[in-house]
Amino acid sequence: MRPIRPKAYNGKRGEMMTIKTQGKYAFTKEIDLLDFSRRSIRFLEMSVPPLSGHSLRVAYLARALAEALGFGEGLSRRVILAALLHDLGIFFIYKVKGLYDEVHRLAQKELDEVEEGVGSELAHCVMGERILAETKVMAHLAPLVRLHHPRDNERDLATFESLSPEERTGACAVALSDAVARSLAKRRLELMPSSAALAEIFDEVGRSSPGYFLLQASRDGLIEALRSVLSQKSLFVDIRSEWYMDEVLRSRHGHPSSIGVEELTGVVRVFVKYMEARSPYTAHHTRLTTLFAQAMVSRLGSLSLEEVAEMTLASWFHDLGKMLIPLSVLHKKGPLSPEEWSVMKEHSYSHYIFFGSMEPLKRAVFWGACHHEKLDGSGYPWGLKGHQIPLAGKILAVADVASALLEERPYKEPLSFGEALKVLESEVRRGLLDGNCFGLLREAATELGIDERMTFKEVSALWAEEEKAA
Ligand SMILES: [Fe+2]
Ligand SMILES: [Fe+2]
Ligand SMILES: [Fe+2]
Ligand SMILES: [Fe+2]
Repeated sequence: MRPIRPKAYNGKRGEMMTIKTQGKYAFTKEIDLLDFSRRSIRFLEMSVPPLSGHSLRVAYLARALAEALGFGEGLSRRVILAALLHDLGIFFIYKVKGLYDEVHRLAQKELDEVEEGVGSELAHCVMGERILAETKVMAHLAPLVRLHHPRDNERDLATFESLSPEERTGACAVALSDAVARSLAKRRLELMPSSAALAEIFDEVGRSSPGYFLLQASRDGLIEALRSVLSQKSLFVDIRSEWYMDEVLRSRHGHPSSIGVEELTGVVRVFVKYMEARSPYTAHHTRLTTLFAQAMVSRLGSLSLEEVAEMTLASWFHDLGKMLIPLSVLHKKGPLSPEEWSVMKEHSYSHYIFFGSMEPLKRAVFWGACHHEKLDGSGYPWGLKGHQIPLAGKILAVADVASALLEERPYKEPLSFGEALKVLESEVRRGLLDGNCFGLLREAATELGIDERMTFKEVSALWAEEEKAA
């Protein structure tokens, strides 16, 4: 691929953001959305352990149904993807004591404004629909996700009727797979249900589904196909093994498709939305770090457009691992104990184990994981030294520290931009951070009018303006 040089930053507000849009279709990545979704769901489920494995089981059941009914490859993939992501909304409104009560209340309020009468139980369907609809490349899954707990109301009926006959079959397959997975989980998952238990399962599904939905499902032969799927002992062995289910989905249904960089960034930004739900300060920090890093890279002017875009992805990823840190540590008021610090230090590496082996994202994921490496080798997770650290990692390290120092954290007071620069300078002098990258930050800040007295709020407002202008 021919590298395209990004336009040099000329000091005008909004200019640095053109780098993102210039590249709209400048290059694409071959991404297997199924692979990316499997990894993402596993990551999200790790952060909310009670849900672990449910999405994969629903996807596996949906796959078995699709196979039994002879769905074409396109519909099969769509059904499997929607089944994998069907409970995505839960992660954005999942109710946990303390901070989450507030987040949950806000999410509910947001949903009420868009659509009246969505009870908290079913809010996750609408939340999942909205999140996917915003990603463009996964928007086609949104109605199937919305309808995974179909309700007997006008809104769901209208959504259902707006679908093509094929999509309606797909929506039924996803919802039935979820209902059956939930029914099975109430019993012993690994046991093949007796005919009495099977009758109970179908009864439960029947009671919780509206008439229009059941009519379509039986017309399409889904109920009969489900009976035949559930009559196989092998299925109950399969659903005990997450590794096996993963393997089947990957090897039989994996299929890379070309995705433009903007669409890809849109998909990865879903994680920033997730941070907003779980740890708002981590989301703000990620935004500010990304914007600092973008400004610094623009000053550099020597990276290819692809590298610039990957730098943005690296920054979106860099603190994603914090979502796996217990909130009692992540949001602890006051200093962390040595044990808590050791848990906290895992965060720069955690996203790497989920996404680092995914070829098209490999470089960005690695760069993101390098943001706590230090030039003298005292950093983590690998203890890389000087030249072993990629330039993007060095840039991110400076952007990350600058933004962290500006912020108010549960365990520290915020600094002004000038005070933050002094700390950064001393880290450069001590041979921890790269002096050239520090210079890039100073230049970018001067040209953007960031004053040394400015606080996090003022700097964030400035960057927000930049983002809007772009
Ligand atoms: Fe659900
Ligand atoms: Fe579910
Ligand atoms: Fe970090
Ligand atoms: Fe960070």
